[in-house]
Amino acid sequence: MNPIAPTQPTDHAARPEAAPTTIVLAGATGALGLLIAHYLRQRGATVRALVRPGASTKAEATSLRLQGVSVVEVDFGSVAELTKACQGGTCVVSALSGLREVIVDTQTRLLEAAVAAGVPRFIPSDFSADFTHLPEGSNRNFDFRREFQRRLDKAPIRATSILNGMFMDLLTGQAPVILAGPKRVLYWGSPDQPLDFTTMQNTAEYTAAAALDATTPRYLRVAGDVASIRGLQAAATAATGQPYKLFRAGSLGLLAGMIKVTKTLMPAKDEVFPPWQGMQYLHNMLSGQAKLAEPLDNGRYPEIRWKTVRELLAGRR
Ligand SMILES: NC(=O)c1ccc[n+]([C@@H]2O[C@H](COP(=O)([O-])OP(=O)(O)OC[C@H]3O[C@@H](n4cnc5c(N)ncnc54)[C@H](OP(=O)(O)O)[C@@H]3O)[C@@H](O)[C@H]2O)c1
Repeated sequence: MNPIAPTQPTDHAARPEAAPTTIVLAGATGALGLLIAHYLRQRGATVRALVRPGASTKAEATSLRLQGVSVVEVDFGSVAELTKACQGGTCVVSALSGLREVIVDTQTRLLEAAVAAGVPRFIPSDFSADFTHLPEGSNRNFDFRREFQRRLDKAPIRATSILNGMFMDLLTGQAPVILAGPKRVLYWGSPDQPLDFTTMQNTAEYTAAAALDATTPRYLRVAGDVASIRGLQAAATAATGQPYKLFRAGSLGLLAGMIKVTKTLMPAKDEVFPPWQGMQYLHNMLSGQAKLAEPLDNGRYPEIRWKTVRELLAGRR
C-alpha cells in the first residue's frame, strides 16, 4: 500500500488567503520543538503548534502561547483532523520523537495531511547523523527514519531533512565519551575519525531559518563543530585546564559485540534511547558511516553563530 497516493492536494485557490509564512509545528512541546518555535517567532513567523489532546494545558503549551504561538489540539491518529490543522501552512515541521508508531506511522499521517491541505513543504524529524547510507539494522532509530524517508520521497511535497550529527549537548550529559571524573575520552576504533556535533539550540535556529526558506534542497547538512576523538581531548583539556587522556576501550568490532550483549540483557524495546541504541549511534559515528558529507551547509544562514565543543565544555564549569 502506498500511504501517500490516496491523498488529493487541496486546490489552493479554493481556500482563504493564508499568512505568507505560517509554519505548522508538530512536537512543539518537546525539547527541540520548543526551541524551534522560539526561533521561528524570533524571525516573525506565524507558528501553529499541533499538540496532543489534553496537552494544551501543559506548561510547555503555556510557554508557547506566551511567545505568540497558536496551540491547536489535534488527534494525531486522524488524517482528517490533521489536514484541517495544516490548512494554510507554508511548511510543516516535525520535531516528534518516538519509535516506529511515531516516526513512521504518525509522521506518515502528518505527511498525508500536509499534502491534502496543499502545504508545499515538509521538514521531517530527522535531526541526526547522516543515516541515509547506513546498512539496515545498524541503528534501529535510523531504520525508522529511512522507512519514513522512502514514503516522504514519493509524496508530492518538497521535503528538506536537517542532518546535524549528534546533539553536542549530549557530550556534557548522556553520551559517555568525555568523562569528567577520570579525565578520559572514551572511544572505540580510531581516535582520528572526524565526528559531527551541533547543539540543540543551533539545530533549532537553523531549522527555523530553513522552514522559512522556500528554496531549501532535499538535505541540509550542518555541524557546529567537527572533531575527532583527539579533537575532543584537546577541547576538553583547553576548556577545563585539566589534561585529558585517551582511553581506547577496543575495536569497533568489540563495540558491535557489546551492543549485541547489551541489547540482549537490557532490551528496553519501548524506550526511544535505550543504552544499546546510544551505542549504535556511537558505532555509526566512530565508523565514519554516518559522517556528514562536506562541504557542510552551515553558511546558508550567515547570522547563525555556531557553538564549538570547546565553548560548550567551558560553559559546563
Ligand atoms: N542528534 C541527536 O543527537 C539527537 C538527540 C536527541 C533527539 N534528537 C532528535 O530530535 C528530535 C526531537 O527530539 P526531542 O528530544 O525534542 O524529543 P522530546 O523532547 O521527547 O519531544 C517529543 C515531542 O513529540 C511529541 N510526541 C511524542 N509522541 C507523540 C505522539 N504519539 N503523538 C503526538 N506527539 C507525540 C511530544 O509530545 P508530548 O509533549 O505531548 O509528549 C513532544 O512534543 C527527534 O527527531 C529526536 O530523535 C536528536
